[in-house]
Amino acid sequence: MFYIFAIHFNTTHSLSKVKQNKLIIIILVTTFVMYNYFVYTQTSIEPTQKLSELAIKGQQLYQENNCTACHQIYGLGGYLGPDLTNIVSNPIKGPEYVKAFLNSGVKSMPKFNFSENEKEAFVQFLAEVDKTGYYPNYKAEMQPDGWVKLMYKTNE
Ligand code: HEC
Repeated sequence: MFYIFAIHFNTTHSLSKVKQNKLIIIILVTTFVMYNYFVYTQTSIEPTQKLSELAIKGQQLYQENNCTACHQIYGLGGYLGPDLTNIVSNPIKGPEYVKAFLNSGVKSMPKFNFSENEKEAFVQFLAEVDKTGYYPNYKAEMQPDGWVKLMYKTNE
């Protein structure tokens, strides 16, 4: 649209070349400023998922004990142990299974010495992570247009 203006001025000879260039620069700078204003002031509409207090404690313990060195959440982390994204909702695993693993030192997993409350915090953290989606996402569907539609637990 701005270019059409510029061409219009050019053909009518109503402005000098210098004025015309100034006008173009002003228009471009204004567009740039407006564009940046909209891009950087736009806030996300989606509310972010909030962890409960117990889950935050679990997350802190998860970080302090470096569980991520061997375990993944959504596929991210070390690969010595399995992914823990959906372990709580897993029908053959679940909360008691998680607790049992923490202090038993199976294979190369260290034998920790967590209290019952700390174990609860781990379970709560992993349960809240679990609610956010699937990994791997077996519920993904291929759309006719070639895009993959992922299924999230929050929109079920
Ligand atoms: C040094 C590596 C290592 C660290 C650190 C580690 N783990 Fe593990 N973990 C493993 C391995 C290896 C297994 C698999 C053991 C098996 O299948 O017999 C495992 C298994 C598990 C399982 C059972 C997973 C399943 O699907 O069967 C849970 C739950 C778990 N770990 C939680 C944790 C938590 C929580 C922490 C942090 C406090 C942690 N681990 C730290 C190596 C580790």
